[in-house]
Amino acid sequence: MSCRICGSNTKTFLDLGNSPPANSLLSKPIREINKFPLVLEYCTNCKSVQLRDCLDAEDLYKHYFYETPKSLTLDQHYRYLTNFLETRNYLNKNTTVVEVGSNVGDYLKFIQPKVSSILGVDPAENIAHKANKEGIPTIPDFFNLDVAKDILKKRGNVDLIIARHCFAHNSNPHELLKASKELLSKDGHLVIENAYVLNTLENNEFDQIYHEHMFYFSIQSMQKALSINGLKLIDIMISLIHGGSIVFIASNIQKVAKKSDSLEKYLNHELTFLNEELLYNFARNTLKIKDDLKKIIRDIINSEKNVIYSYGATAKGNTLINFLELEDGVISYCVDSTKIKQNQFLPGSNIRIVDENFAKSNPPNYFLLTAWNYKDEIIKKVREAGDLDSIFIVPFPSPHFA
Ligand code: TYD
Repeated sequence: MSCRICGSNTKTFLDLGNSPPANSLLSKPIREINKFPLVLEYCTNCKSVQLRDCLDAEDLYKHYFYETPKSLTLDQHYRYLTNFLETRNYLNKNTTVVEVGSNVGDYLKFIQPKVSSILGVDPAENIAHKANKEGIPTIPDFFNLDVAKDILKKRGNVDLIIARHCFAHNSNPHELLKASKELLSKDGHLVIENAYVLNTLENNEFDQIYHEHMFYFSIQSMQKALSINGLKLIDIMISLIHGGSIVFIASNIQKVAKKSDSLEKYLNHELTFLNEELLYNFARNTLKIKDDLKKIIRDIINSEKNVIYSYGATAKGNTLINFLELEDGVISYCVDSTKIKQNQFLPGSNIRIVDENFAKSNPPNYFLLTAWNYKDEIIKKVREAGDLDSIFIVPFPSPHFA
């Protein structure tokens, strides 16, 4: 296929088979669910990794079950990110902010006291409605050129546009960048936070591959996408959140903006380590992890009275569980703290989602940790709730127990 960023030919390097859209939880179990391919392509020109087949964004996001979880790990990350933005002078008391994919508005609420104004944009009508009810002004729409022009007319230019973990959720990244270019003030900044492809590949996190994640950005591919749209990558922040994330800072000033030392350093690192060998290792490790996890789970189930739940009704958990092709009933329940997910069923595996109290009253022998990005926080919570015995199976970077 041709790369959606730069138009060059791509190479296929991993096929995870067919999977249902990972966030489309079911109100009742469905046997014959629609499944779509998860095939990964690599562009040797701009060094981007992307899905071969992208689903229609309207279908994926109009009614959406993903609500930002309440989490100490996330609170800590918000402080870390905001501190970085303040220290490097991308954000201050006079900054006007628009957040794209703002979900229920948790991050906007966090930075509200530190900036001049906030506005969210999120296509999931149910989620945007909730944000508005909580007092976070949110436009229920996709961020595109029309919406950018509308905001421009009503509020004027914006100093800072933030897109956290949503930028890869659109098959046409140029659309979002064009809209950002239109709305940013002359010396404004665009902040894009995303899983970093180098971490995804090095940690074997193949469960990050699902239909919403249409791109797995490298610094080189982001630089290319930005420059095509008249924006310039000037800074980078790296964080451990979600298995390894990167924050790209782009300036609207093309010529004078100076690159930071962090950008130089991480770009050099990427030039050394992001190569085809890493991609093919990742593809091999994916198959090995599948075999190893299946064996661990088979051994657990074969020994008498053992019960396994999964922990976290995550999108990535659905990729993992569907890819493992476990028999019905092997995982009895999935535990999740998000109210709107509870009593729904995971697509493909039809596992019922229960709340954390259920797991507390009926602890299993093992939890398959499908929200491994909150590992420390979840294990601590379970232990403090009195369950000292359930063993956690952590799938990545290679299956182990905790
Ligand atoms: P997330 O990692 O954001 O998922 P995705 O793969 O879909 O991007 O979601 C974490 C899930 O874990 C979320 O549904 C809430 C759940 N969770 C708990 O059940 N208990 C907890 O203590 C935490 C922190 C999260």
